[in-house]
Amino acid sequence: MSTTQAVQSAFTEVFSSSPDGVFTAPGRVNLIGEHTDYNQGYVLPFAIDRTATVAIRLRDDRSASLVSSHGDQGVVTVDLAALDPETLHGWTAYPLGVVWVLEQQGHHVPGFDLYLASDVPLGAGLSSSAAIECAVAVALNELLNIGLSPEELVLVGQRAENEVVGAPTGILDQSASLLATDGHAVFLDCRSRESRPVPLDLAADSLAMLVIDTRVSHTHATGGYAARRASCELGAEVAGVSSLRELTAQDLPELSGLLDTETFHRVRHIITENQRVLDTMAALETGGPLTIGELLTASHASMRDDFEISCPELDLAVDTSLAHGALGARMTGGGFGGSAIALIPLDAEAGVRAAVVDAFAHAGYTAPDIFTVTPGPGARRLA
Ligand code: GLA
Repeated sequence: MSTTQAVQSAFTEVFSSSPDGVFTAPGRVNLIGEHTDYNQGYVLPFAIDRTATVAIRLRDDRSASLVSSHGDQGVVTVDLAALDPETLHGWTAYPLGVVWVLEQQGHHVPGFDLYLASDVPLGAGLSSSAAIECAVAVALNELLNIGLSPEELVLVGQRAENEVVGAPTGILDQSASLLATDGHAVFLDCRSRESRPVPLDLAADSLAMLVIDTRVSHTHATGGYAARRASCELGAEVAGVSSLRELTAQDLPELSGLLDTETFHRVRHIITENQRVLDTMAALETGGPLTIGELLTASHASMRDDFEISCPELDLAVDTSLAHGALGARMTGGGFGGSAIALIPLDAEAGVRAAVVDAFAHAGYTAPDIFTVTPGPGARRLA
């Protein structure tokens, strides 16, 4: 049975009627460009073949009933007329956050029944929450004929994340989920919001992208993520620029005299990471994915040493992959846990997997979840 059929029949079983439509949106891997999005810089993510899929039927009243295949919370029913961001928690904060933002923008959202199935691992740094937001945003946009562009839907999802979920995140995750095209990464300039597809054909070069989910779960609604963002804002303020995007490596000697050591290191990560995104894009376009390994690994070192958002499990995943044949490896996403990616020759896959599993067992860490991903299409209607 296809995902579409499975979700349609699960919906029918719970709600005793068929859905008006089935919509899907992918999680993402960020190939490179970490914490650059909220600094108005560059990112280069791709949508993965792991998705959140929703079946929805509009209702005549203002009652929303939501259920997920994960089964947690059972069927949650809320009165949309009394929707209060303060009271939303658990996975329903993502779909209802989108509803709240649309209402804030003046779009009337009637009641609906919604069934969600997702195979994007939760808390793994692969944007499971953005996938849900984007699937619901695309569904409501289309079923209600709201007429927002994908770029506008990105901002709806981001606002849901910022104002309802409470995570001060940028536009990376929703952009990847909504703007991606099959077989490509998305190069996005977060200042101009211009994006373009960059071919990422791993199989043509006998390569694979391994995701190593460390199972160290993280949240960006508290703690380190917001602290990093604050450091970047402080750095920009002291440097006298509107965002760190305005700075380049040539500014680093002067900045080292202006900024305290910690802020200087944070700023240096953003400046060098922006350059690495541009270099990675150029390398992909001229030499293909075989030529980007060192840039990925340099990005990890910068996140580990300058931005300090890695953790021992991520470092072990990266180091072990590199020692067993990966061309490049780095943590991906916001950090403090979640997943690492390793770009590997296909014939090294078994060896890298076994070595990482062994290294984690030896270190006494929880066994990682290891799987490959391919660049897939962005959010769309399935039925
Ligand atoms: C999380 C956020 C994104 C981005 C990344 C780091 O995924 O949601 O906006 O800041 O972290 O690159």
